[in-house]
Amino acid sequence: MTFTKLTIRDVPLEGKTVLVRADYNVPLNKDGTIRDDLRVRASIPTIEYLLKNRCKVVIVSHLGRPTTAKEPEFSLEPVAIRLAELLDQPVSFVENCYGDAVKQAVKKATLGSVTLLQNVRYYAEEEANDELFAKKIVQSVGAKLFVQDGFGVVHRAHATTDAITHYAPSVSGLLLEREYKTITDAMENPKRPLVAVMGGAKVSDKIGVIEQFVGKADTILVGGAMANTFLDYKGLEMGASMVEAGQQDIIRALYEAATAKRPAGVDEFIVLPQDVAIGVNVTEGDRREVVMSNRVGASERVLDIGDKTIEQFVKIVEKAGTVIWNGTLGYAELPEFAHGSARLALALATNPGVTSIIGGGDTADFVNHWAGDNEAPFTHVSTGGGASLELMAGNILPGVSCLLDAPR
Ligand code: 3PG
Repeated sequence: MTFTKLTIRDVPLEGKTVLVRADYNVPLNKDGTIRDDLRVRASIPTIEYLLKNRCKVVIVSHLGRPTTAKEPEFSLEPVAIRLAELLDQPVSFVENCYGDAVKQAVKKATLGSVTLLQNVRYYAEEEANDELFAKKIVQSVGAKLFVQDGFGVVHRAHATTDAITHYAPSVSGLLLEREYKTITDAMENPKRPLVAVMGGAKVSDKIGVIEQFVGKADTILVGGAMANTFLDYKGLEMGASMVEAGQQDIIRALYEAATAKRPAGVDEFIVLPQDVAIGVNVTEGDRREVVMSNRVGASERVLDIGDKTIEQFVKIVEKAGTVIWNGTLGYAELPEFAHGSARLALALATNPGVTSIIGGGDTADFVNHWAGDNEAPFTHVSTGGGASLELMAGNILPGVSCLLDAPR
């Protein structure tokens, strides 16, 4: 499946007022500064393309999940400042999403200018996918074109991802197109072997994706707390580790499908950790001790894959054509239990022959932090957490399906 929607490359832009939906839901430090600006940086190519075509650019986004109107910690003002630095031009910031203040700001703005509106989730109508609210935004901005570029939020049917497309011609931005194509191509037409690395806390969050990989992948490597739930299913004692309740039937169904595909070698197809790193306190300085997976004591907590498993996973990944990685392999917030994730990141970063797709959310946070000031050396680090999982699971993304179709 390719991307079948019109993009900003396909429509006349010159001199237009364009409303762009970005996903600036960035992690913030306690002092309100931006901890990771991946999503702001990723929005730049679309904005620059529109500016080059002499558009007046107005951007709308959400940040966090404010529960009462206008909680100041969810203001998008710090993003306006960062955006101005990255674009190297002023970004005006408006405290509302519609109404006179917006109309005046856009009227004053010149072609080639950028305006960012305040957090759209300050209005309950956003999540309610309210038609009138969407219409008011488009009319206040005077938008002649709507551009969806917030890949991270297109799995939501909200006013600025769905209803808004009823009030202006709506096309895709360059980030949304790149995310969609890269992830879909890796799932549908991968360079083989295709290795899926699954981690993170819960099986239930990723069940749709794992089902897809049972069908499409050549090998599935399982780590993180998710592996505990698999090992528990296999009857191993997991001590005080995090094990997700109620997943037995789901895992049984996965193994039935996997066994039908690989009757002689299901355990080489879905590879679980043979050894694990355990800790007791889950605090910095907790001692990392490695034991075989069937030797976890009653008070011990499995917090990472073990050293033998790391070697085994690295060997498999080194022979891969494509690796799609969703979820850290241990409790990566603590360096003692980030060994598995760090070694996997290194194996991918130092293997130029492999196409490496890093799912968004915690995995993207981990690899960006791991890469430090260097550009993360992977084929693609997704800006979407839930959105990339939904796309990999083969689900329809409401914020994409409502965009204009490209002619066939
Ligand atoms: C994300 O961070 O996954 C997106 O910005 C969507 O945010 P939400 O889960 O609050 O809708």
